[in-house]
Formats: sequence, C-alpha cells, structure tokens
Amino acid sequence: MTHSRIAGIGHYVPDNIYTNEDLAKFMDTSDEWIQERTGIKERRFATKHEETTATLGARASRIAIERAGTTAEEIDFIIFATLSPDYYFPGSGVILQRELGITKTEIGALDVRNQCSGFIYALSVADQFIKSGMYKNILVVGAEMHSSGLEFNTRGRGVSVIFGDGAGAVVLQPTDEAGKGILNSELHSDGTNAEMLSLLSPGSHGGYHHDDKEQFGFPDKDQLGEIFVTQKIVDDGFLYPHMDGKSVFKKAVVKFPEVITSSLAAVGKTPADIDMLIPHQANLRISQFVQKVLKLNDDQVFNNIQKYGNTTAASIPIALSEAWEQGKIKDNDLVCLAAFGSGFTWGSVVISW
Ligand code: COA
Repeated sequence: MTHSRIAGIGHYVPDNIYTNEDLAKFMDTSDEWIQERTGIKERRFATKHEETTATLGARASRIAIERAGTTAEEIDFIIFATLSPDYYFPGSGVILQRELGITKTEIGALDVRNQCSGFIYALSVADQFIKSGMYKNILVVGAEMHSSGLEFNTRGRGVSVIFGDGAGAVVLQPTDEAGKGILNSELHSDGTNAEMLSLLSPGSHGGYHHDDKEQFGFPDKDQLGEIFVTQKIVDDGFLYPHMDGKSVFKKAVVKFPEVITSSLAAVGKTPADIDMLIPHQANLRISQFVQKVLKLNDDQVFNNIQKYGNTTAASIPIALSEAWEQGKIKDNDLVCLAAFGSGFTWGSVVISW
C-alpha cells in the first residue's frame, strides 16, 4: 500500500530578534512574567514592506524542495496553512505559487485556516491526496507573519508577547516501502467555544454570535452599511486576536495527550514508543505538562518556543525541521506531531521517518 513520506523539509525564520526586554519598551510587561508563564525568551519578527507570510513560506519551501531532490516545477499541488495571510483573499497559496515562479504549471493551491493545528490538517489532507494517487509531489507549508497584526501596547500584552513570525515546509511524496512514512493522522474540532481564541473582524458576524451586539458599533439591521469593519471595531481592538488564555491552557493539556495516545494506538503503539514528539509550540508549560502526563523523557520531546515564540501554523514544521537538522530525528524513528488551538481544533500525525 502506498504511504506518504516527507521527502524534504525546511524552515525559515526572519533575522530580526526581539527579546522580552525589547517588548517591555512598548508595554507593561517583563522578561520574568513572560518566561515564567510561557518559557519564551525571544521571537523573530519579519521586516515590514520587505517580507510577507507568503515570502516567508517561499523561503522555507525552496529549502524543502531542494532537500527533496525535486524542483518547483515538479510540485503538483500546494497546501498553505496560515492565520496571518498576505490578503483576506485570495489565500496565500497562490501568492506562494507566484513567489516560487510555478504559475505555468497551473497546479492547484489550497489554503487551510485551522490556526495552530493548520499544519496538521494540511499534512493530513496532503496524505490523503498522495495515498489516493491524485498527486505525487505536494508542497505543504505553514507560515505566519503575526507581527503585522499584533497590538504592541499594554492592552494587547496578553497576546502579543506570545507570538512570533516564521515558516516551515515539507514536500510529501509517495513511498511503497512497508511501514514507512505517515502511518496515521487524526483530526478533531469543537466549535462550542470558537470565540475563546479568535480574531472577530473583519467578518460577516454583525454581532450575531454575541449577546452584546452594541459593542461592535454596527449600523441597524435595516440600514445599509458596513459591518465588516466599523470605527468601534478599530477603536476597541476587535481587529486584534482575543484569547482567554486560562481556558485555552486547560483544554490544551487534556486534548494533547488524548489525541497523541489515540493516534498512536491506531497503529499499535503507545507514547513509550515515541522517538520524537513535536508538539505545537503554544506554551512551554503546556509541552512540559504533556510530557509529564505521557511519561516521556527530555530526549523524546522537542521544544524551541524559547527562541521563536508561538508561530502557530509554522511551529510544527519549524520544530520538525530543526530537530531533523540537529540529528535528533533519524531513519525509522517514530515521530509524533500534535497540535491544539483556536476553534478549538486539534489533531496529530504519526510518522515512521
Ligand atoms: N505581562 C505582564 N502581565 C500580563 C501580561 C504580560 N504580557 N499579560 C497579562 N498580564 C497580566 C494580566 O493583566 C493579569 O493581571 P491582573 O491579575 O492584574 O488582572 C495577570 O497578568 C494574569 O493574567 P492571566 O491572563 O490570568 O495570566 P495567565 O496566568 O493565564 O497566563 C497565558 C496567560 C496567556 C500565558 C496563559 O494563560 C497561557 O499560556 N494560556 C495558553 C495560551 C496558548 O497556549 N495560546 C495558544 C494556543 S494555540
């Protein structure tokens, strides 16, 4: 039976390093507060007007494509996961295609909007396309330029200290080698508390999902008028991410171990069999909690949030790429990727490397 294998992997993070002390110049926060709660020491921010989410993705993609021993022209499908696209529409997939100079082949480009679990969703979709025989060389990208849409002041400090910019990419190809490649993927969601980690505007909601409709400054129902963006939305910060951090934390520490254990069980494995767990880099405290619950030792879990912050859809491919570059993932290793985030959505992928 055909499986998908990661034939090439790469990542790119911008050069500009912003430490916690740097952020403290713009808002009432401290290195101590940020490190104690999240483990983050610094993050990278892209250069405005010179870099975009798609250009970050393109840099990671070029490395992945080269390492896969293929060329951009040979890529037959693109899947791009991000919550910070270049434009509201079209999606960044086609911008990436243009950046890579592969418009002549007119291949399809799909955008995935599953935030922190975006890369897991994208990889799982790509895996189905490979297994069905529809495509043979899929570029899967997770990229974020959060710095273009965070509030760098005390009002936004609960969110803005956590996120960073970066991109990671893989090239997925078929393999007939028994027991190799992606063995299983599992995807979940629960929209009950969709607004707990959200960016509400611009959008069509018009207050529909909210008890206090006045809060957004929308015109009356019968009046023609914009509800996409109102002055009140701008003034009150609804153009920025909102996060109920404590609730997200509580749900994440339950769902991470659950989905890791169940996707391993589907292939007859247990957490003890994991050679490398790459958890989405949401918060070092969440990763440490998951490690403890699953009884994994330090060598079985890879974290790099300390250097990059939470890069959302990019965090898993960046971490996977770094772990691989550092020789921490070897041939035949059992690798587990897992994510939880906004939606809520969560999932995992089990790979025999
Ligand atoms: N610097 C200093 N103080 C800050 C701050 C910052 N950057 N951000 C918030 N605070 C303040 C709050 O205003 C609050 O002050 P108050 O007690 O006077 O009201 C206090 O610190 C505690 O805030 P709270 O939000 O309750 O902190 P917390 O202990 O829940 O930690 C998170 C906040 C975000 C670090 C934590 O909830 C978390 O990591 N949650 C998971 C988030 C996550 O993983 N998101 C990504 C999901 S994919």
